[in-house]
Amino acid sequence: MGTRPADSIWHANLATMVPGGAPYGAVEDGALAICSRRLEYVGPAADLPPALSGPGTMRHDANGGWITPALIDCHTHLVFGGNRAEEFEARLRGDSYESAARRGGGILSTVAATRAASEAELLESARGRLKTLLAEGVRTVEVKSGYGLSLASELKMLRVARKLAAHANIRVRTTMLAAHAVPPEYAGRADDYVDYIVAEILPAAVGLADAVDAFAETIAFSNAQVERVFAAARALGLPVKLHADQLSDGGGAALAAASGALSADHLEYASEAGVRAMAAAGTVAVLLPGAYATVGARQPPPVAACRAHGVGMAVATDCNPGSSPMCSLLMAMNLACSLFRMTPEEALAGTTREAARALGLAAETGTLEAGRAAEFAVWRVGHPRELAYWMGGIAPVFVS
Ligand code: NIG
Ligand code: FE
Repeated sequence: MGTRPADSIWHANLATMVPGGAPYGAVEDGALAICSRRLEYVGPAADLPPALSGPGTMRHDANGGWITPALIDCHTHLVFGGNRAEEFEARLRGDSYESAARRGGGILSTVAATRAASEAELLESARGRLKTLLAEGVRTVEVKSGYGLSLASELKMLRVARKLAAHANIRVRTTMLAAHAVPPEYAGRADDYVDYIVAEILPAAVGLADAVDAFAETIAFSNAQVERVFAAARALGLPVKLHADQLSDGGGAALAAASGALSADHLEYASEAGVRAMAAAGTVAVLLPGAYATVGARQPPPVAACRAHGVGMAVATDCNPGSSPMCSLLMAMNLACSLFRMTPEEALAGTTREAARALGLAAETGTLEAGRAAEFAVWRVGHPRELAYWMGGIAPVFVS
């Protein structure tokens, strides 16, 4: 290490987000050295090994600004057809998210629009939303299927998600969410639909999906049905995640933990026992304040219990047309503070280090540490707490 000059060196204050030391893992008056798109040195500028500075090394100065890890949106449904502004309006007249779903609206209305859309149309609309996310310093985005609910349409969604990565030159992690709702052709036959997922959709998603997700809820799938999907995922070598305890306590947090899930997401109604199980399993809590606000939830997720038991908390947009029509991860951080009482430091850890863990990417990205990918954002702010303080609307001056 340090034997050849770096490609570039940045001088700035660093919010490394490495836990255990100063808040934000802060290094004031720090330096980052980058070799072949990897972080070679991260630390005080005064200790930068001289061998890293050569004649060809590009030098940048953030002029007293801060560098954070590039942001990670670890839970989105970015690819979908149509929108649900009418359902939003109906909710404001007194309808509920669940009753729209029970009438065959909700997720199923997006399924109809997504099935009808061509791959090119889905790509075009998702690219618009992605552009908004990326402008805020996001470099990694998780994208779920789950509005196709048939072999052809689920694979179509995953292909579009993969194409987004190539178009934008970012990292996309795809998640198969065929167990999102029971499609109309299987109405009243949820178990048959689960058979179809296990026998046909999941095997065909190998190579296109990085993980498997499911929606455990009274309006979606039972825990027994989720377990069947997860067993099939495991047999195919795919990690799992779960939409858990969003609208009611169904024991989803404990189910996710028992399944060794990377994350359990939403968690408004998760019990303390569920949180404890997640702590033991190392399952990350992905908190989604956009969905909490939009469906008019009354009970925030158990942030204090996660803190007390040492469960890592990620924060994501949940960008989707029904419960969270939001394309700003900075806004999600702000809402996580105001609505869930997370600290600005927890919110930033939630969109960097913990988001990386929720995607199984902790060894690659999410913190500023030698050996990690050189994925970072340079901000003209006086302190990293400002990222969660502003209600969106700020942008990094440089993103790598
Ligand atoms: O994460 N909870 C279920 N799935 C999505 C919402 C999907 C929708 O309403 O279209 C969520 O909130
Ligand atoms: Fe979701």
